[in-house]
Amino acid sequence: MIYVKVPATSANLGSGFDCISIALNVYNQFWFEPICEAKPRDYANLIERAFYGFYRELGLKENFVGVNIRQDSQIPISMGFGSSAACIVAGILAANALSGQNLDKDEILNIAAKFEGHADNAGAAIFGGIFVGARGENGRYYGNSMSIEPLIDAGLKFGAAIPNFDFPTKKSRAILPKLSAENMHEIVEAYRFNMAHYGLLVAALAAADIEKIGIAMSDKLHQPHRAKFIPEYADVMSILRQNGAVGTFLSGAGPSIFAFYKGENFPKMAKAALKSLESGWQFTEFEASHAGAKVLLDSGG
Ligand code: HSE
Repeated sequence: MIYVKVPATSANLGSGFDCISIALNVYNQFWFEPICEAKPRDYANLIERAFYGFYRELGLKENFVGVNIRQDSQIPISMGFGSSAACIVAGILAANALSGQNLDKDEILNIAAKFEGHADNAGAAIFGGIFVGARGENGRYYGNSMSIEPLIDAGLKFGAAIPNFDFPTKKSRAILPKLSAENMHEIVEAYRFNMAHYGLLVAALAAADIEKIGIAMSDKLHQPHRAKFIPEYADVMSILRQNGAVGTFLSGAGPSIFAFYKGENFPKMAKAALKSLESGWQFTEFEASHAGAKVLLDSGG
């Protein structure tokens, strides 16, 4: 039996579209049990697609007849917390263990990010902490995790306003504008703006310079477009900011809205203020997941 535990993640942190993510203390757990009978495969299931895909990607001969997969999912689906990435990472980590390849985290990241098409959520799920990643010109994905300790020592806390509707990533990506002759200037300016802010964000996070983090989260690439499809987006953003959030951003592809904040009272005030809205926004506190995904062999359950 192989046991895999993978954290939720919140990607983008505003300006770092597809580049940065933070791992959170909500987990999906998975149990992979090799069995003696062959089983029909469900390639529509992300866990299975990633599991069997690992063998295909590496050109490995399958060393199992069938595999039973069980999961306990705590990560909300299509709410902006990396539930798809968690399933992909779990399938790949289980196949990595079962095949005996024992690839390191950098190799696992490269395979998982190819499935996702970007490294942010998969990276934070694998490495933990705050993960920054990129796809090299050679097509490989690379990334590093930054420690969150200095931010926590500086008193930073994490939470999100979560509504009663979902927003599938596929839809949230499809509504982003495609580059055309008409919008080229606007998009180039948005990239210029975001590059500067994303650079500042990574520097401010590394230095635990809390004051600058909120400024650095400003984004012109994806949030303004996605906001149009998320009822009460502007209200939630302003409620969180008015109550003292250090920084706010759309969690991954949305619809949840994430806040970095300081102080014990913030969640209580945010919860009370969000009650005035119609879409059932609930404020949930999180802690960061420092270590990322965990794999145990021969673990029953
Ligand atoms: N960076 C991704 C996005 C996260 O914003 O679409 C969701 O996969």
